[in-house]
Amino acid sequence: MEKRSKRQNSIDYMKENDRLFSCPICNGAMEVLEQGEVVCGNRHSFTIAKQGYVNFLTKPVRSMYTKNLFESRKMVIDAGLYNELHNQIAKVIGDSVQTILDTGCGEGSHLVGICGRLNNKEAVGVGIDIAKEGIMTAAKYYEKKIWCVGDLASSPFRERSFDVILNILSPANYDEFKRLLKSDGKIIKVVPQSGYLMELRKQIFVDSEKENYTNERTVKRFYEQFPYVQRQRITYKMPIEKDLVPRLIEMTPLGWHAETRGIDLNEVTIDLELLVGECQR
Ligand SMILES: C[S@@+](CC[C@H](N)C(=O)[O-])C[C@H]1O[C@@H](n2cnc3c(N)ncnc32)[C@H](O)[C@@H]1O
Ligand SMILES: [Zn+2]
Repeated sequence: MEKRSKRQNSIDYMKENDRLFSCPICNGAMEVLEQGEVVCGNRHSFTIAKQGYVNFLTKPVRSMYTKNLFESRKMVIDAGLYNELHNQIAKVIGDSVQTILDTGCGEGSHLVGICGRLNNKEAVGVGIDIAKEGIMTAAKYYEKKIWCVGDLASSPFRERSFDVILNILSPANYDEFKRLLKSDGKIIKVVPQSGYLMELRKQIFVDSEKENYTNERTVKRFYEQFPYVQRQRITYKMPIEKDLVPRLIEMTPLGWHAETRGIDLNEVTIDLELLVGECQR
């Protein structure tokens, strides 16, 4: 039997789920055509790329996030540093969800790790990121997900489509999230806490303010948006292989800031908080 191309598999999967899309230009319903176009009634059209993702940006956007950063992120996540985060998020999501959107999904490993831990293996996972390099990396490694290049501020999805919105270490757009969530949907936002990657930050930012995170404003904004909020702190240390240290440096914007040669680590702290908000419309 002839092997189906990656693009064809993506076309089929997006077609099965095309009720999720809405045109980022005119907000009209969209349809996925056999030949791999996502189109609205006004003929705004977006092509599914051969790598299996679709770019919904109407003008190119420059991103500081490079292919190497995303490849490094994938290696670090694959090494298991975030497994416990994935376990906890999967628990919060529970069993009955059908659709999950990861906003600012980067190279997609968090979405894939979390979906893989759900009992409902049929749940549809969708990732959106403004960085094309991130989405190309996601599409290169992971099939059976919908990968979209797009801007959170004008996302290509239909209102009230998602049971869960993930927002992991990424910027948020709450008006858009509320538009996209189903009436009893949940948003799960992950924010770094004071110990997050502290072994690395201590060596990069000696005596600097940037050594510490404060997230008071982020948390306050979150409470202003959602009537029901639950918080859960997830803190643990993980050993890290020497070979992975350069990848850990490269995967974070910390690597942009300072001299990173000579950094020596054998363990790293993951210290994150989940903010879980419910709409209850
Ligand atoms: C620190 S990275 C986190 C990526 C991923 N969630 C992770 O934890 O590995 C922040 C991500 O947000 C994305 N981002 C920033 N602004 C965005 C926007 N307006 N729309 C969509 N994605 C955006 C960036 O491209 C980047 O991939
Ligand atoms: Zn349109």
